[in-house]
Parts: sequence; C-alpha cells; structure tokens
Amino acid sequence: MCGIVGFIGKEEAAPILLDGLSRLEYRGYDSAGLAVYGEDNGVRVVKTKGRLQALFDLTQGGATLHGAVGLGHTRWATHGEPSDVNSHPHVSERGRFVVVHNGIIENYAELREFLQRKGVRFASQTDSEVVAQLLEYHYREDFLEAVRKTLGQLRGAYALGILCADAPDKLVAVRKDSPLVLGHGDDFQMLASDVTAVIKYTREVTYLDNGELAIITAQGFQVYDSYFQPVEKERHHVDWEISAAEKGGYEHFMAKEIMEQPEAFRKTVFPRIRDGRVVLDDLCFDRDYLGKLDKIYIIACGSSYHVGMVAKYNFERLLRKPVEVALASEFRYSEPIVTKSTLALVISQSGETIDTLTAMREAKRLGARVLSIVNVVGSSIARESDDVLYTWAGPEIAVATTKAYSTQMALTYLIALYFADLMQTISREEYSEVVSELLLVPTKLEQILAQRDSVQYFASLYFNQPSIFFIGRNIDYAIGLEGSLKLKEISYIHSEAYAAGELKHGTISLIEPGTLVVALASYGPLFEKMMSNIVEVKSRGADVVGLTVESRVEGIHRIADHVMEVPDTHPMLLPSLDVVPLQLFAYYIALQRGCDIDKPRNLAKSVTVE
Ligand code: M6R
Repeated sequence: MCGIVGFIGKEEAAPILLDGLSRLEYRGYDSAGLAVYGEDNGVRVVKTKGRLQALFDLTQGGATLHGAVGLGHTRWATHGEPSDVNSHPHVSERGRFVVVHNGIIENYAELREFLQRKGVRFASQTDSEVVAQLLEYHYREDFLEAVRKTLGQLRGAYALGILCADAPDKLVAVRKDSPLVLGHGDDFQMLASDVTAVIKYTREVTYLDNGELAIITAQGFQVYDSYFQPVEKERHHVDWEISAAEKGGYEHFMAKEIMEQPEAFRKTVFPRIRDGRVVLDDLCFDRDYLGKLDKIYIIACGSSYHVGMVAKYNFERLLRKPVEVALASEFRYSEPIVTKSTLALVISQSGETIDTLTAMREAKRLGARVLSIVNVVGSSIARESDDVLYTWAGPEIAVATTKAYSTQMALTYLIALYFADLMQTISREEYSEVVSELLLVPTKLEQILAQRDSVQYFASLYFNQPSIFFIGRNIDYAIGLEGSLKLKEISYIHSEAYAAGELKHGTISLIEPGTLVVALASYGPLFEKMMSNIVEVKSRGADVVGLTVESRVEGIHRIADHVMEVPDTHPMLLPSLDVVPLQLFAYYIALQRGCDIDKPRNLAKSVTVE
C-alpha cells in the first residue's frame, strides 16, 4: 500500500526522498511523486503514474528539485484510477498545503461536497486531496490550528505527511491506523511508512502511536497525543543492516528470502530452546488459565492465515482444546463467540494489516487475551497485544511471503510445545523428540535448498499450465493452501488447493488429460488414503507431481509422474520442510513466465486498507 517519506535538514531533499521511496517499492504501488520546498522556487511538485524510474527520470534523480525539505509518496490506488493527477503529493488550490496520505478518508465524499459548496475546486478524484483542501480552508495563518481543525473532521485511517509553504521550517506527521516512523539524524529528521526507508541515513527511530501527531524540524521533533498534549516517546535503535533490505546478488528479493529461511528459522527458534526445553521468556501463561480456555481463535490473513490452518492441527492434537481459524476480514463482522476464556492468537508479518488489527481489537473488546506473532518490531499489532512473540526473520521485501511464513510457523510449534508442557498434555518422549527435531530443521532446509535445480526442472515442464491443483490431507492440505497462494500471487496461474478427500465431491470434474495436480503426501497416517486420491486423478488423465518425505518416495514414485522429496521429520514439523519446494516451484514458474516476481500486479506487501 502507499508509502510515505519525508525529509527536513540541510541537504538536498529530493535524492534522499527518491532513495527512501525506492526502499518502499516493495509495498506495491502504481504511481509516485515528490514535493520539495526551496527558498527560490517555493513548493515544486513532480508526480507521475507508473514505476519510480519514471519519477527518477522526470527529476533527473532529484537533481531538478532544490530544497532541504520535502515529501515523497508511492500510491496504491483506492479512490480514483492510477494517473498523474491522482498521484500524491496533493496540493491545496492556493498551493499552500502539500499532503501525502496512506489509508482511506472514509467521509471524503461529504467533505468534498462541503468544500465544493464553499467554492473549492478539486484537481483529482482521490479521497486524499480533501485533506490538503481542508487544511487550506481552515488556515488563518496558524499551521497547527489548521491541522487540528482538519483532523477533527476526518474519519477513517490515515498516515499523513504535511508541508505548509508558509512554515517551511517544519513538517507535520499524523498517524491514525496507518503506520509512521520518525528517523533522527544529527542535523536532519525523516518520517516514513517504515524503517526500511530511513535506515540508510539513521538507525535512531521513534514509532508514532495511534492518534499521535509530530511536529518535525531539522533539529528535532515533538510528539502530541490526540488531545494535542505533548508526549515523551521512547527512541528505538534499529539493529539490522541495510544489506538485509537489499538483494545481495540475487535476481529477486523472493529468491534471497527463500534462501534465508534456514538462518531465519535458527534465529527465531534456537535462542528459545535451552537445555532441551522451550523457553518463552516473554510469556507468562499458567496451567490454570490454559486449563480454563474455552477456545483458541487464530486470526490472520493470507499466508499468515495458512500458518493458522496448520497450527490448528498441531494445537488440537497436542492441547485437546478447540481451535478456530478465522480470516480477519470475516471475523470482525461475524458476531464471533469470544469470552474471557478465549485466547486470540493473532498472526501478522507486518503487524499493520488493517483487517487483522481491527479483528484483534474486536477480540480484545469481547474479552479475549491476545497473543500475537509479528515480524515487525514496534508495529501496531505488536503494541496492542497482551503478549507478543517476534519472528526474527529480518525485513521481508518480496510481496510474496516466504521466510516470514516459515518463522511464523516455527513460533506456532514453540507455542504448542510450551502450552502442552504447561497443561501436561504431551508425553515427555514426544516433547523431547519434537525439540530435537526442531533443532535439525535448518540443516534439512539447507538440504532441500541445495536441490532446488530439480524443482526448477519441474517448473520448466509445467510453466504454461492454465491451472494447477494442490491436494493433500490434514496438515498436507493446509500446506497446499500456501503452495497454491504462492503460485497464484506471482505467476498469475489459476490454482486451487483442495482437501484430497473432498475432490470427488465436485472439483474432480475439472481434472482432464494434462491437468497438473501437485499432490502432497508427506503426512504418514494418511499416506495410503492419499495414494488412492492420486490414483483417482491419474485415472482422469492428470499429470501428478508428488511431494513426500524420503522414507515414502518409493511408494509415490509408482503412481506420480514426478516426485519432490524432503527429509523425514516429526509430522508436526513437516510444513516447515514441505513448503520450501512449493515456494521454489512458484518462483521458478513465475521466472519462466517473465513475471514481476517481487512486485506482482495489484498486490501490496502491507495491506493497510480494509
Ligand atoms: O503482514 P501480514 O502477515 O498480516 O499479511 C497478511 C497477508 O496480506 C499476506 O500474508 C499475503 O497473503 C502475502 N502476500 C502472501 O504471500
């Protein structure tokens, strides 16, 4: 979704803003723009539909815009088609206010009508322009008063960067439901939608909380709460390297992130295992509380939801408590049955997905205790949860998640073991076996990745398929959901994931000679049943690529056309291994088809609108 960058200091702002925007490209966008204030020219705005390169070319890398204060924006269209005029920054009719916005102004139509009745002429079709025009409408030579009055009229979600030509020694940043972070240098300040845009210049950052506003000058900043009272903020030091957000020799971020999974898994899991035991220092659950749980609600979207689908199998088997997995966008409007004895497990890489965030708030309102799994430190979901466990995946840039999925999954294993241990629902033998196997997962992942050429070969056989089915049972079905989503997202091939036993209740009518079916058959207890399902699709002419564990390869080779294999492990950990060939399969197919792998069409990394 939209990306915001702001800079105020002594250097030329435009090249820094362009660099910041390039680091936000991964969020997904369709147009981009810059506004820079210079003493000689006042405010100059350049904006254009299309990729950042077009903006770069138009401004000669920023060289044509002079001034040490400015705002930049990448837009993911919601209201109004992608076009030059709908791109941000938006400027008020008299040219005094410049605004960049991420989010949706829900009451923009009525505000627009109100302003039009007052004679204001709008240039764009966007909801965002009303903010600039409203600021101008309320302006009586007091910038902050105009901001205060404008905010009082806005409904919806917004992160705003505001520049006033009458007060170019400051920027104003406002955050409501859409993330914003401030970056602090010795003689400059920045603001951005996330830290990747500022990390090249400073590692000292402050996360704005919901409802907060910051007045930023080159020398410093002051944050105010929603009642305009000053608040003291904690500064954070970002400790990852800028190289973590760069491709490092890989053709795509997705390829790099797939290859980083063994290390990401190690970082997330190993520090939390001591002397053969899972130690979650950040959590303080007790047996009594867990015993009284009526339900665990897992709430998430997209791939994070697929992690929840796997976790359901593992949690229910180990904890013997009912687990419901809810799509966050559905949860909130479904009158969910949540009590004070419900635990909500909220899963989100970004920690900013608006559907997940609002569903989490609803769960809390209804009395649930919220435990979240989040990758981005300081994100909204992390801060609003009762308990949070961070995945230490590092920044994930490709829109299609890989290492975040894997580390989220890893944390669900640790939570399952930690709860089962407290509840005494797991035998000592199984507990020790799973812990030992967990420590072997990174090495096994390295083995799988070393054989990626064979997956590339299968991809070269099937990259022209119009449609691909993924089938599996139990945990294999849940992994198939993720394999299918990966493929759809980046290769644009139609795909469906089906519980293998359900196929014959309708979908099997779509199987015809040559249809590709990826059959997941790694879950031991249902292996024989899966073989029957594979035979069913083979008899209708399907081509089958099987996916199984080493010890069962022979069984499936007799039926399938091709087989991808992963090392054996404890059944509950299979998703961590199985998902990797599926990620690679999607990646190589998309590569063969010449797709824009890191920035697939229509998609955004962090979905901050409902
Ligand atoms: O940041 P989140 O984990 O909350 O994001 C949820 C989904 O938008 C995300 O998993 C999406 O499905 C991915 N692009 C899938 O690769």
